Amino acid sequence: MELPRHIGIIMDGNGRWAQQRSLVRTQGHLEGLKAAKRITKAASDIGIKYLTLYAFSTENWKRASDEVNFIMGLVKQFLRSEMDFSVKNKIRVRHAGDFSGLPHDIQKEISQTMEDTSGFDGMQVILAINYGGRDEIIRAVRRYISGGNISDISEKELSSYMDNPDIPDPDLIIRSAGECRTSNFLLWEGAYSEIFVSKKLWPDWDREDLEDALENYKKRERRFGGIANVA
Ligand code: FPP
Repeated sequence: MELPRHIGIIMDGNGRWAQQRSLVRTQGHLEGLKAAKRITKAASDIGIKYLTLYAFSTENWKRASDEVNFIMGLVKQFLRSEMDFSVKNKIRVRHAGDFSGLPHDIQKEISQTMEDTSGFDGMQVILAINYGGRDEIIRAVRRYISGGNISDISEKELSSYMDNPDIPDPDLIIRSAGECRTSNFLLWEGAYSEIFVSKKLWPDWDREDLEDALENYKKRERRFGGIANVA
């Protein structure tokens, strides 16, 4: 199978990475940010068209406020420090999740970056921040109800109310740090995604790990509920 068009990544294991080194959790997130930058560059070089990074879930607000604030600071850092790279590589940055629930300064930063990169036709990086799959579906249903007749609801129609309806469903969802669950990530869009779980903690991820995941993906046979092609 060829290259996936859209890859989603659950960047897990920052806390464990820090704990193993007797460091504070935030140090793990800082290294996680560096890994996110490495993988974004690698994905763009390889020719991936869409990359969704799960940076902060709707459930992550339950964490200590220091940790939450630190992650929000990293989001800003990512947006600012990647601008040169985005311009050079024509990367378009987008957002998935409940935008209205984000702090105003983060909203401003994301809006600005989305505007500055909106004309770029290279890889699209979708930052899932304050994102939850169930929350996205609920928000889509609310928008749908407020605009129309709910008796004609269909998968196709509801899909068009999701956060980024023009983006194809993820072909591959990668999760680092070994846990075999989706954790509320791209529930609607990921219905038929191939899932690749790696034991490696997110801060240790490098280009070769992405290449391994792609090698593994190539061997999969996607049937979308149908039956195998018999030669
Ligand atoms: C999960 O590890 C990671 C997060 C909740 C935060 C991810 C954020 C970043 C990598 C930085 C921001 C990145 C971008 C692209 C803007 P965990 O803390 O749940 O780890 P644990 O399960 O080992 O405790």
